[in-house]
Amino acid sequence: MEEKVKQLTEETVSAIAACNTTAALNDVRVKILGKSGALTALLRNMKDLPPEQRPEAGKIVNVAREKLESAFSDRQDELLRIESEKRMREERIDITIDEHIPLSGGLHPLTQVRNRIVEFFTSLGFVIADSPEIETDYYNFEALNIPADHPAREMQDTFFVTDTILLRSQTSAGQIRMMEKVKPPLKMLSPGRVFRADEADATHTPVFHQIEGLVVDKGITMCDLKGILDLFAQKFFSKSTRTRFRPSYFPFTEPSVEVDASCHRCGGKGCNVCKGTGWIEIMGAGMVNRNVLANCGIDPDEYTGFAFGCGLDRITSIIHGITDARIPFENDIRFLKQFR
Ligand code: DAH
Repeated sequence: MEEKVKQLTEETVSAIAACNTTAALNDVRVKILGKSGALTALLRNMKDLPPEQRPEAGKIVNVAREKLESAFSDRQDELLRIESEKRMREERIDITIDEHIPLSGGLHPLTQVRNRIVEFFTSLGFVIADSPEIETDYYNFEALNIPADHPAREMQDTFFVTDTILLRSQTSAGQIRMMEKVKPPLKMLSPGRVFRADEADATHTPVFHQIEGLVVDKGITMCDLKGILDLFAQKFFSKSTRTRFRPSYFPFTEPSVEVDASCHRCGGKGCNVCKGTGWIEIMGAGMVNRNVLANCGIDPDEYTGFAFGCGLDRITSIIHGITDARIPFENDIRFLKQFR
């Protein structure tokens, strides 16, 4: 009896060690310790022994049983650990590595917003007009009702190339080129770069982008301007955005206004984005000055028009929450890739 138990224990211990899966281990366990298992059978057969041998035999079997139980349970733990490690390895998804995502270029955020604005105005029948970045004094100032000694020239610190040639300081120059060529009715949008001798800081850059709009026809009024700018603000900020006109001064418009949009962040209650006012300035605008129409050979008694000039950089910053005007010009890939 003792011999049998010893042999069975040894065989079982090596069978346990040979098991590579918890399923195989369980099979061995059932074969030895299960209801009709080998060791269980030995225990059952004890009734065939002479009574005086039974306590001793019982002890032997029970010691063997305990030893095997703990061998099973140790191997079980070990196999569970191996199996779970294997599963972890096989099912691993490494969310930290993105090198398999092919790098793709994308449009600069300013280009994206410009394209959307262009699309919006062309859908309303505006034509897109380009005009030179290197301009003459005449188109950039003179024809826009800003003669040489006019104090309004001081509003813009201009880069002069010669006495009469300059880097355009405003896309308004494009209005003149358009009206010289095309007679009303006309609707024009002219996006482009402009240049001013400003030191770069959080709110200024020496190069920035404007979008000039111009509509000239019979009977155009400020209501037309307000209507289009309301649509514009609702499209680019939020459905509930309102606009307001504040009286202002530009030599090429009369009357002139600064256009504010209700703050998209706080809805007009006042927050740090709108500096507590509830409003954010988005552009300058007005009714085209009679002198400007006349300079282009358009009869101001017959036609009226409105014009607006908005900063693309500003609109983009409002939409994307960009807080420093220099960032879009730095082309840091970490900034740019947010807009892919
Ligand atoms: N040219 C102006 C500027 O650069 C912006 C502007 C204001 C354009 C009013 C307009 C306008 O066409 O009507 O500050």
